[in-house]
Amino acid sequence: MNKVYEKLLDCFECVKDKIPYKPKVALILGSGLGDFADCQKIDGVIDYNEIAGFPVSTVAGHKGRFVFCEVMGVKTVIMQGRVHLYEGYEPTDVVLPVRLMKMMGAEILFLTNAAGGVNFDFKAGDLMLIEDHISSFVPSALKGENIDELGVRFPDMSDIYDKNIREIIENTAKENNIKLKKGVYLQTAGPAYESKAEIRMFRNLGADAVGMSTAVEATVANHMGMKICGISCISNLACGMTDNPLTHEEVKETADRTAPIFKELVTKIIGELGKI
Ligand code: HPA
Repeated sequence: MNKVYEKLLDCFECVKDKIPYKPKVALILGSGLGDFADCQKIDGVIDYNEIAGFPVSTVAGHKGRFVFCEVMGVKTVIMQGRVHLYEGYEPTDVVLPVRLMKMMGAEILFLTNAAGGVNFDFKAGDLMLIEDHISSFVPSALKGENIDELGVRFPDMSDIYDKNIREIIENTAKENNIKLKKGVYLQTAGPAYESKAEIRMFRNLGADAVGMSTAVEATVANHMGMKICGISCISNLACGMTDNPLTHEEVKETADRTAPIFKELVTKIIGELGKI
């Protein structure tokens, strides 16, 4: 059997008796949103390190666990801590948690992240609805033998971030007076922030925000036929757009500052996702 699929099945075997229910929504928490799960009434927890072979985040401040809870009455599995390519994991390991949440029964993947603003109309603290992505600068987690049990060899990518859900998100933001930009997210491998020339190039290519996660996760979720949506917290303007050098502290500080409104929006959106 395909080794990647075999590992996924082994991981599922480890978790299947610990899952309190079949979740509808799988939510991945980005920087700043990390404590979203702590604010919920928790129905179940699975630590990543309880799962044999599971990738565990090495980033300080990133927890590593699945949390099950009902958000606005909608059964949700939350990834509190994700793994990134820059930590040195194989792309197939980076996306393993997403595949596992689909095996748990999740139908909708809700991605969140902190990202650098590339669009000059953005400012630090903005929230951006992800309309599409550019993943051409990172390796594909779908390379290698296709896992036919999960999806087709050459998946269509013309509607990665579900159009209907994007409309729901825009309406939810409007109804709650939350300003929401929209745009294209570009993933880099990291861990270095980009150079000024790279940011100019990314802008010319049509990117509005840049970050080190999300597109690989969306790509495999799309492969499996999940409905996908995503929101970026613009934690900083990208390299060269201000005079200040970029620091992880600045990214964290803005993400933390934006967290209350981001959490409110995510909560309301999940409530709406329960209706589809
Ligand atoms: N670049 C890449 N990743 C990021 C950034 C950035 O400016 N901000 C937050 N994550």
